[in-house]
Amino acid sequence: MPQTINILFLAAEAEPFVKVGGLGDVAGTLPRALRALSTDDLKLDVRLVLPMHSVIKSEALRPAGIYSIQRGKTELQVEAFEGTLDGMPVYFLNGDPIRAAGSVYSSNNKLDGEKYTFFSLAALELPRQINWSPDIIHANDWHTALAAYGNLVKRWDEKTRRVSSLVAIHNLPFMGPDVSEILESYGLPLANTDLPSWARVMPMPLGLWASDAIVAVSPTYADEILHEEFGCGLQDFFRNRTDSLSGILNGMDTASFDPQTDSTLAANFNADTLSLRPQNKAALQERVGLPVISDVPLFGMVTRMDVQKGVDIALRGLKMLGKQNWQFVLLGAGDPKLEAMAKKLQEEMPDRVRVETRYDAKLARQIYGGADVFLMPSRYEPCGISQMISMRYGCIPLVRAVGGLHDTVTDSETGFVFVEAKAKSFNDAVRRALALYPYHSRWAALQKAGMALDFSWSHSARKYVDLYKKLVETSRARIATP
Ligand code: GLC
Repeated sequence: MPQTINILFLAAEAEPFVKVGGLGDVAGTLPRALRALSTDDLKLDVRLVLPMHSVIKSEALRPAGIYSIQRGKTELQVEAFEGTLDGMPVYFLNGDPIRAAGSVYSSNNKLDGEKYTFFSLAALELPRQINWSPDIIHANDWHTALAAYGNLVKRWDEKTRRVSSLVAIHNLPFMGPDVSEILESYGLPLANTDLPSWARVMPMPLGLWASDAIVAVSPTYADEILHEEFGCGLQDFFRNRTDSLSGILNGMDTASFDPQTDSTLAANFNADTLSLRPQNKAALQERVGLPVISDVPLFGMVTRMDVQKGVDIALRGLKMLGKQNWQFVLLGAGDPKLEAMAKKLQEEMPDRVRVETRYDAKLARQIYGGADVFLMPSRYEPCGISQMISMRYGCIPLVRAVGGLHDTVTDSETGFVFVEAKAKSFNDAVRRALALYPYHSRWAALQKAGMALDFSWSHSARKYVDLYKKLVETSRARIATP
Protein backbone atom coordinates (compact mmCIF):
# COMPACT_ATOMS: atom_id res chain seq x y z
CA MET A 1 0.00 0.00 0.00
CA PRO A 2 1.42 3.38 -0.91
CA GLN A 3 1.82 5.69 2.04
CA THR A 4 0.16 9.10 2.03
CA ILE A 5 1.19 12.06 4.13
CA ASN A 6 -1.41 14.80 4.35
CA ILE A 7 -0.02 18.24 5.06
CA LEU A 8 -2.06 21.28 5.98
CA PHE A 9 0.16 24.21 4.99
CA LEU A 10 -0.77 27.53 6.60
CA ALA A 11 0.56 30.95 5.72
CA ALA A 12 -0.46 34.59 5.81
CA GLU A 13 0.59 35.08 2.17
CA ALA A 14 1.41 32.98 -0.88
CA GLU A 15 2.17 33.78 -4.49
CA PRO A 16 0.33 34.15 -6.85
CA PHE A 17 -2.66 35.00 -4.64
CA VAL A 18 -1.09 37.56 -2.34
CA LYS A 19 2.52 38.53 -1.76
CA VAL A 20 4.08 41.06 0.57
CA GLY A 21 7.55 39.60 1.13
CA GLY A 22 9.76 36.50 1.01
CA LEU A 23 7.24 34.40 2.94
CA GLY A 24 4.88 34.78 -0.01
CA ASP A 25 7.50 33.33 -2.37
CA VAL A 26 8.09 30.33 -0.12
CA ALA A 27 4.45 29.58 0.65
CA GLY A 28 3.60 29.89 -3.05
CA THR A 29 6.31 27.55 -4.29
CA LEU A 30 7.24 25.03 -1.56
CA PRO A 31 3.80 23.34 -1.32
CA ARG A 32 3.83 22.68 -5.07
CA ALA A 33 7.44 21.47 -4.98
CA LEU A 34 6.46 19.06 -2.22
CA ARG A 35 3.51 17.67 -4.18
CA ALA A 36 5.81 17.22 -7.17
CA LEU A 37 7.95 14.84 -5.09
CA SER A 38 5.07 12.37 -4.73
CA THR A 39 5.97 8.88 -5.93
CA ASP A 40 4.10 5.59 -6.31
CA ASP A 41 5.20 4.71 -2.78
CA LEU A 42 4.64 8.01 -1.08
CA LYS A 43 1.94 10.49 -1.91
CA LEU A 44 2.34 14.00 -0.52
CA ASP A 45 -1.07 15.62 -0.35
CA VAL A 46 -0.21 19.21 0.56
CA ARG A 47 -3.05 21.69 0.84
CA LEU A 48 -2.53 25.38 1.29
CA VAL A 49 -4.75 27.54 3.51
CA LEU A 50 -4.73 31.35 3.38
CA PRO A 51 -6.83 34.09 4.96
CA MET A 52 -9.32 35.59 2.54
CA HIS A 53 -7.60 39.00 2.55
CA SER A 54 -9.60 41.75 0.89
CA VAL A 55 -7.07 41.88 -2.00
CA ILE A 56 -7.76 38.27 -2.98
CA LYS A 57 -9.91 37.90 -6.05
CA SER A 58 -12.82 35.64 -5.30
CA GLU A 59 -14.34 35.06 -8.79
CA ALA A 60 -12.55 31.77 -9.46
CA LEU A 61 -13.26 30.34 -5.99
CA ARG A 62 -16.02 27.93 -4.96
CA PRO A 63 -17.69 27.96 -1.54
CA ALA A 64 -16.33 25.05 0.52
CA GLY A 65 -18.48 25.30 3.61
CA ILE A 66 -19.58 27.49 6.47
CA TYR A 67 -18.84 26.55 10.06
CA SER A 68 -18.28 28.31 13.32
CA ILE A 69 -15.84 28.46 16.17
CA GLN A 70 -16.66 29.51 19.70
CA ARG A 71 -15.22 32.78 21.04
CA GLY A 72 -16.52 33.61 24.50
CA LYS A 73 -20.29 33.56 24.32
CA THR A 74 -20.43 34.08 20.57
CA GLU A 75 -20.12 31.73 17.67
CA LEU A 76 -17.82 33.22 15.04
CA GLN A 77 -18.70 32.18 11.54
CA VAL A 78 -15.99 30.88 9.21
CA GLU A 79 -16.64 30.97 5.48
CA ALA A 80 -14.37 28.61 3.54
CA PHE A 81 -13.67 28.90 -0.19
CA GLU A 82 -11.71 26.60 -2.41
CA GLY A 83 -9.51 27.16 -5.46
CA THR A 84 -6.67 25.28 -7.09
CA LEU A 85 -3.10 26.03 -8.03
CA ASP A 86 -1.46 23.58 -10.44
CA GLY A 87 -3.82 20.91 -9.17
CA MET A 88 -3.26 21.70 -5.49
CA PRO A 89 -6.33 22.51 -3.42
CA VAL A 90 -6.06 25.97 -1.87
CA TYR A 91 -8.50 27.09 0.80
CA PHE A 92 -9.33 30.64 1.80
CA LEU A 93 -10.96 31.38 5.13
CA ASN A 94 -13.02 34.45 5.86
CA GLY A 95 -14.80 35.77 8.91
CA ASP A 96 -15.40 39.00 10.83
CA PRO A 97 -11.89 39.27 12.37
CA ILE A 98 -10.36 38.88 8.91
CA ARG A 99 -12.62 41.48 7.33
CA ALA A 100 -12.03 43.88 10.23
CA ALA A 101 -8.24 43.93 9.79
CA GLY A 102 -8.38 45.09 6.17
CA SER A 103 -4.88 44.70 4.72
CA VAL A 104 -2.66 41.60 4.92
CA TYR A 105 -0.69 43.05 7.83
CA SER A 106 -2.60 45.95 9.33
CA SER A 107 0.11 47.28 11.71
CA ASN A 108 -2.65 47.44 14.32
CA ASN A 109 -1.68 44.86 16.94
CA LYS A 110 -5.15 44.33 18.24
CA LEU A 111 -6.70 43.77 14.82
CA ASP A 112 -3.85 41.54 13.65
CA GLY A 113 -3.87 39.55 16.88
CA GLU A 114 -7.61 38.89 16.45
CA LYS A 115 -7.29 38.15 12.76
CA TYR A 116 -4.48 35.64 12.89
CA THR A 117 -5.65 33.90 16.06
CA PHE A 118 -9.05 33.45 14.43
CA PHE A 119 -7.43 32.27 11.19
CA SER A 120 -5.09 29.78 12.90
CA LEU A 121 -7.85 28.25 14.99
CA ALA A 122 -10.38 28.25 12.14
CA ALA A 123 -7.82 26.46 9.94
CA LEU A 124 -7.56 23.70 12.55
CA GLU A 125 -11.28 23.01 12.10
CA LEU A 126 -11.20 23.08 8.31
CA PRO A 127 -10.15 19.41 7.78
CA ARG A 128 -13.36 18.17 9.40
CA GLN A 129 -15.37 20.33 6.99
CA ILE A 130 -13.65 18.99 3.92
CA ASN A 131 -13.53 15.42 5.17
CA TRP A 132 -9.79 15.10 5.04
CA SER A 133 -7.39 14.57 7.91
CA PRO A 134 -3.93 16.04 8.06
CA ASP A 135 -0.93 14.19 9.45
CA ILE A 136 1.04 17.38 9.72
CA ILE A 137 0.27 21.04 10.20
CA HIS A 138 3.02 23.12 8.64
CA ALA A 139 2.72 26.67 9.99
CA ASN A 140 4.82 29.67 9.01
CA ASP A 141 5.83 32.63 11.19
CA TRP A 142 3.79 34.15 14.01
CA HIS A 143 0.61 34.59 11.95
CA THR A 144 -0.14 30.88 11.84
CA ALA A 145 2.03 29.56 14.70
CA LEU A 146 -1.00 29.36 17.00
CA ALA A 147 -2.28 26.46 14.91
CA ALA A 148 0.57 24.42 16.44
CA TYR A 149 -0.51 25.59 19.89
CA GLY A 150 -4.17 24.77 19.23
CA ASN A 151 -3.12 21.39 17.87
CA LEU A 152 -1.22 20.53 21.04
CA VAL A 153 -4.15 21.54 23.24
CA LYS A 154 -6.39 19.31 21.10
CA ARG A 155 -3.91 16.47 21.57
CA TRP A 156 -4.17 16.88 25.32
CA ASP A 157 -7.97 16.60 24.96
CA GLU A 158 -8.11 13.83 22.37
CA LYS A 159 -5.48 11.31 23.35
CA THR A 160 -5.67 9.49 20.03
CA ARG A 161 -5.08 12.58 17.92
CA ARG A 162 -2.14 11.94 15.61
CA VAL A 163 -1.60 15.31 14.04
CA SER A 164 1.96 16.65 14.36
CA SER A 165 3.04 20.22 13.80
CA LEU A 166 5.97 22.08 12.37
CA VAL A 167 6.58 25.81 12.68
CA ALA A 168 8.92 27.43 10.17
CA ILE A 169 10.73 30.60 11.22
CA HIS A 170 11.09 33.12 8.42
CA ASN A 171 11.47 36.22 10.54
CA LEU A 172 11.92 35.71 14.27
CA PRO A 173 11.80 39.31 15.51
CA PHE A 174 8.14 39.47 14.47
CA MET A 175 6.50 37.42 17.22
CA GLY A 176 3.00 38.90 17.19
CA PRO A 177 1.12 40.78 19.93
CA ASP A 178 0.01 39.64 23.39
CA VAL A 179 -2.88 37.29 22.64
CA SER A 180 -3.43 35.85 26.11
CA GLU A 181 -6.94 37.30 26.47
CA ILE A 182 -7.93 36.32 22.96
CA LEU A 183 -6.73 32.76 23.52
CA GLU A 184 -8.65 32.55 26.74
CA SER A 185 -11.81 33.70 25.00
CA TYR A 186 -11.38 30.85 22.52
CA GLY A 187 -11.16 28.47 25.47
CA LEU A 188 -7.42 27.86 25.13
CA PRO A 189 -5.59 27.98 28.46
CA LEU A 190 -2.13 29.59 28.59
CA ALA A 191 0.18 26.65 29.17
CA ASN A 192 2.91 26.48 31.71
CA THR A 193 5.84 26.86 29.36
CA ASP A 194 9.61 27.17 29.69
CA LEU A 195 9.42 30.39 27.69
CA PRO A 196 10.53 33.71 29.18
CA SER A 197 7.49 35.35 30.78
CA TRP A 198 7.22 38.16 28.20
CA ALA A 199 7.13 35.56 25.41
CA ARG A 200 4.56 33.13 26.76
CA VAL A 201 1.65 35.33 25.64
CA MET A 202 2.81 35.78 22.03
CA PRO A 203 1.86 33.62 19.03
CA MET A 204 5.34 32.86 17.67
CA PRO A 205 6.93 31.64 20.92
CA LEU A 206 3.76 29.77 21.93
CA GLY A 207 3.63 28.04 18.55
CA LEU A 208 7.33 27.19 18.64
CA TRP A 209 6.95 25.83 22.14
CA ALA A 210 3.99 23.64 21.14
CA SER A 211 5.40 22.41 17.82
CA ASP A 212 6.93 19.00 17.21
CA ALA A 213 9.56 20.44 14.86
CA ILE A 214 11.04 23.88 14.40
CA VAL A 215 12.58 24.79 11.06
CA ALA A 216 14.69 27.87 10.44
CA VAL A 217 14.91 28.78 6.76
CA SER A 218 18.68 28.24 6.50
CA PRO A 219 21.22 26.14 8.41
CA THR A 220 23.18 29.20 9.52
CA TYR A 221 20.04 30.93 10.80
CA ALA A 222 19.18 27.79 12.79
CA ASP A 223 22.55 28.17 14.47
CA GLU A 224 22.42 31.95 14.86
CA ILE A 225 19.15 31.93 16.82
CA LEU A 226 20.87 29.92 19.56
CA HIS A 227 22.86 33.04 20.39
CA GLU A 228 21.98 36.37 21.90
CA GLU A 229 22.70 38.47 18.80
CA PHE A 230 19.98 36.79 16.72
CA GLY A 231 17.92 34.81 19.25
CA CYS A 232 15.60 37.75 20.08
CA GLY A 233 15.50 36.66 23.73
CA LEU A 234 14.52 33.06 22.90
CA GLN A 235 18.09 31.73 22.60
CA ASP A 236 17.89 29.73 25.85
CA PHE A 237 14.57 28.22 24.77
CA PHE A 238 16.08 27.22 21.40
CA ARG A 239 19.09 25.70 23.13
CA ASN A 240 16.74 23.45 25.06
CA ARG A 241 15.13 22.45 21.77
CA THR A 242 18.14 21.69 19.59
CA ASP A 243 16.78 18.14 19.09
CA SER A 244 13.74 19.41 17.27
CA LEU A 245 15.38 22.42 15.57
CA SER A 246 16.77 22.21 12.06
CA GLY A 247 17.73 24.57 9.25
CA ILE A 248 16.46 23.99 5.71
CA LEU A 249 17.48 26.44 3.02
CA ASN A 250 14.66 27.89 0.92
CA GLY A 251 14.68 27.28 -2.80
CA MET A 252 13.59 29.71 -5.49
CA ASP A 253 11.29 29.55 -8.48
CA THR A 254 13.86 28.69 -11.16
CA ALA A 255 11.24 28.47 -13.91
CA SER A 256 10.00 32.00 -13.39
CA PHE A 257 13.46 33.47 -12.77
CA ASP A 258 15.42 32.28 -15.77
CA PRO A 259 17.64 34.69 -17.73
CA GLN A 260 17.21 32.51 -20.82
CA THR A 261 13.47 33.10 -21.00
CA ASP A 262 12.74 36.19 -18.88
CA SER A 263 10.69 38.40 -21.19
CA THR A 264 11.43 41.58 -19.22
CA LEU A 265 15.08 41.51 -20.34
CA ALA A 266 16.37 43.31 -23.43
CA ALA A 267 18.53 40.25 -24.19
CA ASN A 268 18.14 36.71 -22.91
CA PHE A 269 21.37 34.92 -22.07
CA ASN A 270 22.99 32.03 -20.24
CA ALA A 271 26.47 31.22 -18.94
CA ASP A 272 27.70 30.54 -22.48
CA THR A 273 26.32 33.75 -23.93
CA LEU A 274 27.36 36.22 -21.24
CA SER A 275 28.55 38.56 -23.98
CA LEU A 276 24.87 39.43 -24.54
CA ARG A 277 24.38 40.57 -20.97
CA PRO A 278 25.76 44.14 -21.43
CA GLN A 279 22.68 44.88 -23.56
CA ASN A 280 20.63 44.53 -20.39
CA LYS A 281 22.96 46.86 -18.55
CA ALA A 282 22.57 49.52 -21.24
CA ALA A 283 18.78 49.07 -21.22
CA LEU A 284 18.71 49.43 -17.44
CA GLN A 285 20.89 52.54 -17.44
CA GLU A 286 18.65 54.05 -20.07
CA ARG A 287 15.44 53.12 -18.31
CA VAL A 288 16.44 54.73 -15.01
CA GLY A 289 18.16 57.69 -16.65
CA LEU A 290 21.78 56.99 -15.79
CA PRO A 291 24.57 57.71 -18.29
CA VAL A 292 24.75 54.71 -20.64
CA ILE A 293 28.39 53.69 -20.17
CA SER A 294 29.38 50.04 -20.43
CA ASP A 295 32.56 49.93 -18.35
CA VAL A 296 31.29 51.67 -15.23
CA PRO A 297 30.51 49.15 -12.48
CA LEU A 298 26.78 49.27 -11.80
CA PHE A 299 25.52 48.28 -8.34
CA GLY A 300 21.94 47.16 -7.93
CA MET A 301 19.72 46.66 -4.91
CA VAL A 302 16.12 45.40 -4.75
CA THR A 303 14.78 45.42 -1.24
CA ARG A 304 12.16 46.33 1.28
CA MET A 305 13.35 49.61 2.82
CA ASP A 306 13.85 48.20 6.27
CA VAL A 307 16.66 48.39 8.83
CA GLN A 308 16.91 44.59 8.58
CA LYS A 309 18.14 44.98 5.02
CA GLY A 310 20.99 47.37 5.87
CA VAL A 311 19.93 49.99 3.32
CA ASP A 312 21.60 52.64 5.49
CA ILE A 313 24.84 50.62 5.53
CA ALA A 314 24.84 50.51 1.73
CA LEU A 315 24.09 54.22 1.37
CA ARG A 316 26.80 55.27 3.81
CA GLY A 317 29.28 52.75 2.44
CA LEU A 318 28.81 53.89 -1.15
CA LYS A 319 29.17 57.51 -0.15
CA MET A 320 32.57 56.69 1.31
CA LEU A 321 33.74 55.67 -2.16
CA GLY A 322 34.00 59.27 -3.26
CA LYS A 323 35.09 60.04 -6.76
CA GLN A 324 35.71 56.55 -8.15
CA ASN A 325 33.57 55.61 -11.09
CA TRP A 326 30.44 53.66 -10.23
CA GLN A 327 26.66 53.75 -10.58
CA PHE A 328 23.88 52.57 -8.29
CA VAL A 329 20.21 51.70 -8.83
CA LEU A 330 18.10 51.13 -5.73
CA LEU A 331 14.54 49.83 -6.01
CA GLY A 332 12.47 49.51 -2.86
CA ALA A 333 9.78 51.02 -0.68
CA GLY A 334 9.09 51.04 3.02
CA ASP A 335 10.53 53.00 5.92
CA PRO A 336 10.13 56.72 5.04
CA LYS A 337 13.40 57.58 6.85
CA LEU A 338 15.39 55.17 4.71
CA GLU A 339 13.60 56.30 1.57
CA ALA A 340 14.53 59.91 2.40
CA MET A 341 18.14 58.94 3.10
CA ALA A 342 18.33 57.21 -0.30
CA LYS A 343 16.75 60.15 -2.13
CA LYS A 344 19.28 62.44 -0.47
CA LEU A 345 22.16 60.40 -1.89
CA GLN A 346 20.52 60.66 -5.31
CA GLU A 347 20.36 64.45 -4.94
CA GLU A 348 24.01 64.58 -3.93
CA MET A 349 25.14 62.30 -6.77
CA PRO A 350 22.61 62.76 -9.59
CA ASP A 351 24.99 61.42 -12.23
CA ARG A 352 25.43 58.06 -10.53
CA VAL A 353 22.57 57.24 -8.14
CA ARG A 354 18.96 56.38 -8.98
CA VAL A 355 16.40 55.56 -6.32
CA GLU A 356 12.96 54.19 -7.22
CA THR A 357 10.76 54.02 -4.13
CA ARG A 358 8.11 51.59 -5.29
CA TYR A 359 7.41 47.91 -5.85
CA ASP A 360 8.13 47.04 -9.48
CA ALA A 361 8.59 43.36 -10.35
CA LYS A 362 9.70 44.14 -13.90
CA LEU A 363 12.37 46.67 -12.96
CA ALA A 364 13.56 44.22 -10.28
CA ARG A 365 14.23 41.61 -12.96
CA GLN A 366 15.98 44.18 -15.13
CA ILE A 367 18.27 45.01 -12.22
CA TYR A 368 19.12 41.32 -11.69
CA GLY A 369 19.75 40.97 -15.43
CA GLY A 370 21.66 44.20 -16.00
CA ALA A 371 23.54 45.34 -12.87
CA ASP A 372 27.09 44.07 -12.24
CA VAL A 373 26.93 43.69 -8.45
CA PHE A 374 23.90 43.01 -6.26
CA LEU A 375 24.06 44.55 -2.78
CA MET A 376 22.63 42.79 0.28
CA PRO A 377 24.23 44.16 3.45
CA SER A 378 21.53 42.68 5.74
CA ARG A 379 21.73 43.01 9.51
CA TYR A 380 20.08 39.59 9.70
CA GLU A 381 18.78 37.40 6.87
CA PRO A 382 17.00 34.16 7.76
CA CYS A 383 17.39 33.00 4.15
CA GLY A 384 17.11 35.70 1.51
CA ILE A 385 16.11 35.03 -2.06
CA SER A 386 17.49 37.99 -4.03
CA GLN A 387 21.08 36.77 -3.73
CA MET A 388 20.04 33.48 -5.36
CA ILE A 389 18.16 35.21 -8.17
CA SER A 390 21.04 37.61 -8.76
CA MET A 391 23.55 34.74 -9.05
CA ARG A 392 21.27 33.03 -11.52
CA TYR A 393 21.23 36.25 -13.57
CA GLY A 394 25.02 36.74 -13.52
CA CYS A 395 24.80 39.69 -11.13
CA ILE A 396 27.51 39.06 -8.53
CA PRO A 397 26.17 39.33 -4.97
CA LEU A 398 27.93 41.40 -2.34
CA VAL A 399 26.51 40.25 0.99
CA ARG A 400 26.99 40.25 4.70
CA ALA A 401 27.94 36.84 6.14
CA VAL A 402 24.66 36.18 7.96
CA GLY A 403 21.94 33.52 7.78
CA GLY A 404 21.11 32.25 4.32
CA LEU A 405 23.52 34.72 2.72
CA HIS A 406 26.37 32.92 4.47
CA ASP A 407 25.01 29.57 3.22
CA THR A 408 24.64 30.58 -0.43
CA VAL A 409 27.45 33.02 -1.31
CA THR A 410 31.15 32.12 -1.13
CA ASP A 411 33.64 34.94 -0.95
CA SER A 412 35.82 35.32 -4.06
CA GLU A 413 34.14 32.31 -5.69
CA THR A 414 30.56 33.40 -6.27
CA GLY A 415 30.49 36.80 -4.62
CA PHE A 416 31.92 39.28 -2.15
CA VAL A 417 31.28 38.69 1.53
CA PHE A 418 31.85 41.00 4.50
CA VAL A 419 31.37 40.39 8.20
CA GLU A 420 30.53 43.44 10.27
CA ALA A 421 27.25 45.35 9.93
CA LYS A 422 29.19 48.57 9.42
CA ALA A 423 29.60 50.91 6.46
CA LYS A 424 33.39 50.51 6.68
CA SER A 425 33.27 46.71 6.44
CA PHE A 426 30.77 46.96 3.56
CA ASN A 427 32.93 49.59 1.87
CA ASP A 428 36.00 47.31 2.01
CA ALA A 429 34.05 44.61 0.15
CA VAL A 430 32.85 47.14 -2.43
CA ARG A 431 36.45 48.20 -3.01
CA ARG A 432 37.41 44.58 -3.57
CA ALA A 433 34.63 44.30 -6.15
CA LEU A 434 35.77 47.48 -7.89
CA ALA A 435 39.36 46.23 -7.94
CA LEU A 436 38.33 42.98 -9.63
CA TYR A 437 35.92 44.56 -12.09
CA PRO A 438 38.48 45.44 -14.82
CA TYR A 439 39.70 41.83 -14.98
CA HIS A 440 37.06 40.51 -17.35
CA SER A 441 37.85 36.81 -17.30
CA ARG A 442 38.12 36.67 -13.50
CA TRP A 443 34.87 38.59 -13.24
CA ALA A 444 33.18 36.19 -15.66
CA ALA A 445 34.50 33.24 -13.63
CA LEU A 446 32.59 34.52 -10.59
CA GLN A 447 29.47 35.08 -12.67
CA LYS A 448 29.63 31.59 -14.13
CA ALA A 449 30.28 29.95 -10.75
CA GLY A 450 27.12 31.59 -9.41
CA MET A 451 25.08 30.71 -12.49
CA ALA A 452 26.10 27.05 -12.16
CA LEU A 453 24.57 26.71 -8.68
CA ASP A 454 21.24 24.93 -8.34
CA PHE A 455 18.81 26.81 -6.11
CA SER A 456 15.71 24.94 -7.24
CA TRP A 457 13.31 23.73 -4.56
CA SER A 458 13.84 20.02 -5.11
CA HIS A 459 16.78 19.58 -2.68
CA SER A 460 15.13 21.52 0.13
CA ALA A 461 11.68 20.05 -0.43
CA ARG A 462 13.22 16.58 0.00
CA LYS A 463 14.56 17.65 3.39
CA TYR A 464 11.05 18.67 4.41
CA VAL A 465 9.75 15.27 3.26
CA ASP A 466 12.35 13.51 5.44
CA LEU A 467 11.25 15.61 8.36
CA TYR A 468 7.55 14.89 7.71
CA LYS A 469 8.31 11.15 7.64
CA LYS A 470 10.11 11.39 10.94
CA LEU A 471 7.20 13.32 12.49
CA VAL A 472 4.70 10.72 11.29
CA GLU A 473 6.77 7.90 12.79
CA THR A 474 7.18 9.73 16.09
CA SER A 475 3.48 10.39 16.32
CA ARG A 476 2.70 6.69 15.68
CA ALA A 477 5.09 5.77 18.48
CA ARG A 478 3.48 8.37 20.76
CA ILE A 479 0.01 6.88 20.28
CA ALA A 480 1.30 3.31 20.65
CA THR A 481 2.94 4.04 24.00
CA PRO A 482 0.46 6.14 25.94
C1 GLC B 1 11.72 36.56 5.54
C2 GLC B 1 13.23 36.68 5.78
C3 GLC B 1 14.02 36.28 4.53
C4 GLC B 1 13.53 34.94 4.00
C5 GLC B 1 12.02 34.97 3.80
C6 GLC B 1 11.47 33.63 3.33
O1 GLC B 1 11.30 37.56 4.68
O2 GLC B 1 13.58 38.00 6.16
O3 GLC B 1 15.40 36.18 4.84
O4 GLC B 1 14.16 34.68 2.77
O5 GLC B 1 11.38 35.29 5.00
O6 GLC B 1 11.80 32.59 4.20
